[in-house]
Amino acid sequence: MLKEKTCLVTGCAGFIGSHLTEKLLADGYAVIGVDALRDYYDVAIKKQNLNSLKHDNFEFIEADLNELDLGSIVKRVYHVFHEAAQAGVRNSWGQEFGIYVNDNIMATQKLLEALRGQKDKKMIFASSSSVYGDSTQDELVEKAVLNPVSPYGVTKLAAEKLVQVYWKNYGVQALGLRYFTVFGPRQRPDMGLFKFIKAALKNEEIEIYGDGSQKRDFTYVTDIVEANILALNNFRPGECFNIGSGSNLTVNEVLSKIEKISGKGLAVRYTERAKGDVINTLANIGNARKQLGYDPKMNFEQGLLSQIEYMRKSLKIG
Ligand SMILES: NC(=O)c1ccc[n+]([C@@H]2O[C@H](COP(=O)([O-])OP(=O)(O)OC[C@H]3O[C@@H](n4cnc5c(N)ncnc54)[C@H](O)[C@@H]3O)[C@@H](O)[C@H]2O)c1
Repeated sequence: MLKEKTCLVTGCAGFIGSHLTEKLLADGYAVIGVDALRDYYDVAIKKQNLNSLKHDNFEFIEADLNELDLGSIVKRVYHVFHEAAQAGVRNSWGQEFGIYVNDNIMATQKLLEALRGQKDKKMIFASSSSVYGDSTQDELVEKAVLNPVSPYGVTKLAAEKLVQVYWKNYGVQALGLRYFTVFGPRQRPDMGLFKFIKAALKNEEIEIYGDGSQKRDFTYVTDIVEANILALNNFRPGECFNIGSGSNLTVNEVLSKIEKISGKGLAVRYTERAKGDVINTLANIGNARKQLGYDPKMNFEQGLLSQIEYMRKSLKIG
């Protein structure tokens, strides 16, 4: 195993982490993957994701980052892609918040601490558009005021701040990528698009929070993976970049596209807007284009088609 080509991917069994690991392996990297296989959604899905990572250059460690000796793992790698987190906005209220603090803040601090004194190693942290909250700006730029409206967003912002203070004080080479609603095969089953497609394929009623006029910038998972690799090669320590598609759609527009592509009519029931959900997201990706060379390739319809095809197979719907 070439040391220069060894990466640590945390959250490797999850939606984005598994795609990233797959691409790194295909590109000739060796990967140490860590995942606690949290049962926040069906662990069988994560095991299925791991099945696609079988490779001589892949080593899987099932563990909670908070309980691992990260110092010795970090010594074995050059680059760290930190995808592990407790994701999802709606469950971040109440008792569950402790899980968000442990998995999103504590685990990130532990990784940064392990990287202290190892200045040649780079860490890319998966942040989120949720750090912005309900901005009044149409387009979100990195320097906008950060005002998260969910406890999840608060934990992601705290982790971003840790990335910055470890860079400023100890020269830890870390940066953040703010992902905007990621979609594609293996998408988490708690995510809106997954639920809409599943309901369409199974002829079930769809529940929409609010009136469906809320807008989202949807980013295809391979564009997210590409952004990670570009960030590694054009590294800007201490900075955070928007990684979105640069365009957005209302939820109602998304539903009509699902109807058109899946050939299924949808029964929609509108319910109360969920607390912590933002109204609009739209990434300004100028900075990522300029500094990282980021150039998202997938258009929404093509990406939707590939997610629908994948879900037809995985949900065994003909
Ligand atoms: N999916 C999106 O639209 C989106 C948008 C913005 C940001 N993000 C961020 O991207 C990253 C990946 O998201 P995802 O959608 O793939 O989520 P996911 O839940 O599918 O993957 C995260 C993985 O991290 C693991 N994990 C959680 N806590 C851990 C711990 N303490 N130790 C080890 N493993 C742990 C989980 O078991 C899970 O497999 C997360 O950091 C998330 O906050 C995702």
